Amino acid sequence: MAMNPFEERGIPLERQIRTWSQVALPPYRKQDVDAFTRCRIMLMNGIENEASVFSHAFARVSDDPELKAGLAALRRVEHQQQTTINWLNPADQSVLETTIAFEQVAIELTAYLARTEPDPYVKQAFDFGLLEDFDHLYRYSQLLDLIHGKDPNEVLQGRTDVLPARPTQDHHNDPFLRLLNHYEKTRARPRSKVNVLTLMAGEQQTLNFYKTVGNAYGSPEARQLYAEISAVEEEHVTQYESLMDPTETWLERWTLHEFTECANYYTCMETEVDPRIRKIWEIFLSCELEHLRIAGDALQRLQGKDPQEVCGRELPTPATFESNREYVTRVIQEQSDLRLVAGGKWARVAELPDDWPSLVYQRAVNADGSPSESVVRLRMEAAGVDLVRAADPGREEAAGEHRVTSLDPEPAANTAPVEYTELTPVEREAAPGDHDDARLVNPVEDPTWPRRLPRKGKGR
Ligand SMILES: [Fe+2]
Ligand SMILES: [Fe+2]
Ligand SMILES: [Fe+2]
Ligand SMILES: [Fe+2]
Repeated sequence: MAMNPFEERGIPLERQIRTWSQVALPPYRKQDVDAFTRCRIMLMNGIENEASVFSHAFARVSDDPELKAGLAALRRVEHQQQTTINWLNPADQSVLETTIAFEQVAIELTAYLARTEPDPYVKQAFDFGLLEDFDHLYRYSQLLDLIHGKDPNEVLQGRTDVLPARPTQDHHNDPFLRLLNHYEKTRARPRSKVNVLTLMAGEQQTLNFYKTVGNAYGSPEARQLYAEISAVEEEHVTQYESLMDPTETWLERWTLHEFTECANYYTCMETEVDPRIRKIWEIFLSCELEHLRIAGDALQRLQGKDPQEVCGRELPTPATFESNREYVTRVIQEQSDLRLVAGGKWARVAELPDDWPSLVYQRAVNADGSPSESVVRLRMEAAGVDLVRAADPGREEAAGEHRVTSLDPEPAANTAPVEYTELTPVEREAAPGDHDDARLVNPVEDPTWPRRLPRKGKGR
């Protein structure tokens, strides 16, 4: 049943403050949490982080004391909400287990949003990102096995396949190519706006997490893999934020943020299987309904605009976690060889021009090999085969082939072979003098700089 959030009454702001023991609730047990409950928790942490970061950015450019006070009052609640949600994650969940869960969120969320996205261009952007996060899951799964001796299905619970898609070494692009064409705020459906903002928030939190915890393991391969994949998440944030209409005002964006929070909590509440956590979603939805009213009033007061003009009258359901296996499989088969080209477009590997700008950057960063290939080789050395998990055994069998055939024209020197055949072991021991090596500090020269900036962005 659809909900019109402008007709509902939320909890008054002065009653939204909770005690510290209500804020820091007991965590879930990782042994028996439902995989999609964990996905919802991880997504909502990202949504709350975005609410807070956006509100600070808005406050810093705002000169209206009443507006600033309103933002600060709401931020205090958003902070409590985020703490509650993020700290539902238990202390005994390892960094790599949490990482696997982050990629599961990215895959299942992006796939659902792509399936339900009304704007075909936005949908294509989602499909493109989907295959990259799908490949990240495969790479991190090798490491989970190597470091913790765990099967990724202990986290994924068999809901998400672990297979190569577009190889991670090819996710590194000239940054201009990640700038896509934005929707037009007056023509875009509210669902598209919410989808884009939801996914951007999720990717931002993934980036924050990898940047913060990528040093948690001693292994150089682990550190480098986090460095490599967090750089791709940085590109994902760039890609998704470029879809938003830059002429949306700060007040419109604020309203859209609160609306997006409502939509996500509403979805979580409607789909949650854990009664204790469902209660949290319900209470937080009631908080957000009041936030939306406050933001909408500010939009009306300061800009004379009806918030329903920005958001519509009905909450979409972005945070729906359900099986997307069939959809994802189709996108892998049809789009692994897609790449970004100028003008916010995509081309097949076979159609790429010789001077494709991303190749220059890939040559520079992958000059010592690609960490996402190193971990596959390490797993092959350790177990004779890379780790894949799919509901369909035929797809497991074809995985090695797919990993290699979807590469672009200049694969990294350490690219893992289709099958284990006399691999040269990756050098793992630190040698004396390693730390004096000039290579460790000298930047790689990037021949694409300085670059002429593209002309000022227009809509589509
Ligand atoms: Fe919130
Ligand atoms: Fe990812
Ligand atoms: Fe991502
Ligand atoms: Fe909020």
